Amino acid sequence: MAVPRRTVGQRAIVRRAIGRRAIGATLSGLAAVAGIWPDALASPAQDYVLHCMGCHGATAEGVPGKVPPLARSLVQFMRSPAGRSYVLRVPGASNSMLTDAQLAGVLNWIAARYGGTQDVTTAAMPPVFTLQEVSAQRRLPMAAVQATRREVVRELAASGTAPSDNY
Ligand code: HEC
Repeated sequence: MAVPRRTVGQRAIVRRAIGRRAIGATLSGLAAVAGIWPDALASPAQDYVLHCMGCHGATAEGVPGKVPPLARSLVQFMRSPAGRSYVLRVPGASNSMLTDAQLAGVLNWIAARYGGTQDVTTAAMPPVFTLQEVSAQRRLPMAAVQATRREVVRELAASGTAPSDNY
């Protein structure tokens, strides 16, 4: 029996629609089972907005007299082992809700996004934070934040540009 053309066309449309829905349902089902959907939505940029921006500002510029800038400053702390350790143990970073991997990710993102590499004396960007480094440093206590900061900044200033002494 000859099937009228319109019916064939309509059947094809219905078949395509069902096909797409089935693929979509399968993908979101797999994503939900594997638990990858929330991870796919999370990103260092979002972590910054949710966990750091409230204090450090939309462009990491800080709040004069209260919160230090991270823009053009974080990369300078990253030049020395003491500076890196300070950054990982400062309360806002260390005590955040972020996992070690997320903390590494957000710090590396800030450094890349707001680095201002022209202010770093070394030609290249300092090495990024690794998960191992964050895990090793983050939970070491830091008794006196301001005193530690002063010492780190003094040491950095002796070897090139350093974050400003007061903010
Ligand atoms: C509740 C406010 C607040 C939040 C939220 C916060 N910080 Fe901070 N952050 C500060 C203050 C204040 C300092 C200065 C040191 C201190 O007194 O703790 C600081 C210092 C720092 C420093 C060292 C910079 C310097 O010049 O001394 C880094 C790096 C840093 N924060 C990163 C982060 C990251 C990354 C996040 C998000 C995961 C974050 N902070 C969230 C308030 C905050």
